[in-house]
Amino acid sequence: MSLRPDVDLVIRGAKVVSPDHIFEASVAIAGEHIVAVGHDDTMPPARQELSAKGLYLLPGAIDSHVHFRDPGYPNKETWKSGSAAAACGGVTTVFEMPNTKPATGTVEALNLKLKAAESSYVDFGIHGLLGDDTLDRLDELLEAGVTSFKAFVGNTFGNLPAPTDGALLEGFEKLAPLGIRTVVHAENSSIMARRQDHLVKAGRIDALAHLAARPAVCEIEAIGRVLTLAEWTGARLHIAHHSAADSLYLLRDAKRRGVDVTVETCPQYLLLNTQDMLRLGGILRLNPPIREQRHNQPLWDALMEGVIDMIATDHAPHTPEEKTRPNIWDCDCGFPGVETQMPLMLTEVNRQRASLMDYVRWSSVNPAKAWGLYGTKGVIAAGAHADIAVVDMDRTGVLSQGKLQSISKISPWNGRAVQGYPLHTLVRGRFVMRDGHLVSEAAGWGKSVKSVQRMPKPQPKNTEHYTQAILTTPEGLPTNALPTGT
Ligand code: DOR
Ligand code: ZN
Repeated sequence: MSLRPDVDLVIRGAKVVSPDHIFEASVAIAGEHIVAVGHDDTMPPARQELSAKGLYLLPGAIDSHVHFRDPGYPNKETWKSGSAAAACGGVTTVFEMPNTKPATGTVEALNLKLKAAESSYVDFGIHGLLGDDTLDRLDELLEAGVTSFKAFVGNTFGNLPAPTDGALLEGFEKLAPLGIRTVVHAENSSIMARRQDHLVKAGRIDALAHLAARPAVCEIEAIGRVLTLAEWTGARLHIAHHSAADSLYLLRDAKRRGVDVTVETCPQYLLLNTQDMLRLGGILRLNPPIREQRHNQPLWDALMEGVIDMIATDHAPHTPEEKTRPNIWDCDCGFPGVETQMPLMLTEVNRQRASLMDYVRWSSVNPAKAWGLYGTKGVIAAGAHADIAVVDMDRTGVLSQGKLQSISKISPWNGRAVQGYPLHTLVRGRFVMRDGHLVSEAAGWGKSVKSVQRMPKPQPKNTEHYTQAILTTPEGLPTNALPTGT
């Protein structure tokens, strides 16, 4: 009997990309796992072979921020269409947001979502809702399958009320001892509500009024606030869709102090600015808003420096009709992105704004680490899941909204020339995209990453001040003790 497992696939002659180096190797896959990475001559016989000469193997992208709208808004997206978009974008794992209908703040709502996710092409985590009303249900939501939480501190699609500061502190007190990370949409809701009100009353309906309602100070203030609460409690924090240059110093300082905060930005904040907003209007309306050009380069610099950890997309589909209304306030916020992220970023690699190794760190390695998946995902090595994007760095094309897998066939990237595409995508050893085409039989192959999630040891702080700790009178203190000197 052979000691080798039966090998299903050998990918031959590729260049394997890790954050530290790029090396020529072949990769053997048995079942869902990579079983060997090495010289072509050392590869075991396999049922199937794929020649990847001249191509690069990247650990599949892990997108920490998608909205698949299911349950609730099947006219915008479903798990099947959204995850098909992921598969065709070289994305092998997504983390999905709780502003569905119903919002993912009860076990019942979570079960509806898990049911919908049974049609997923790619693996997934679910961010549960952290709000005033869900504080008492965090344990049961974790038990039932959420991997992490999301707090909508800034108002956005779905109009979920922002958690009060008190509730956020209590939420962090509950999650810090569990080591669970909370995603925060960090904008200040009350500033934005007042400004939007003034703008509407003044008759502003133009595209830039949206930015005027949500200036960078909203992000600076909210990041400062949530960092304070996370640092105090020792809770793990993740800043969603970081957009402003001005708030980076807070994150840099917090990281230097050892706060466990991870940060994502999105291609739109790196590559687009108010000039594009003037050109595209409501199509480009999203939260946080597209900002002035002066923000673009500092976000790249922050990625290079490690202040921003990763690229996510905030894939937020709406219908073309919902995106193109004449009044900016009537245009829904967000647009699809999970399928276009990789070609857009590979184009920037081809332009030498970053290396492929940098890209892999931002698209896969760092998100895998943030969500407790590293080793199983985020790496091409024996023992890891065979989650692989096979990439052609030479292939050129033009992004076309009509060809997107997403139901939302409207994109600010429409017509943009790119160089660098994923050709094949494998999720746990199975092709979900092959030769640029969706493998439709693979619908339903994706599964929750909950069972492989291993968050590092929790580091709660100031636990003696936690709400739970102050509810009982300390041993030996008479209950009617008066302060001395009175
Ligand atoms: O523009 C946005 N759209 N930003 C968000 O934070 C949410 C998203 C959505 O769900 O449509
Ligand atoms: Zn979002």
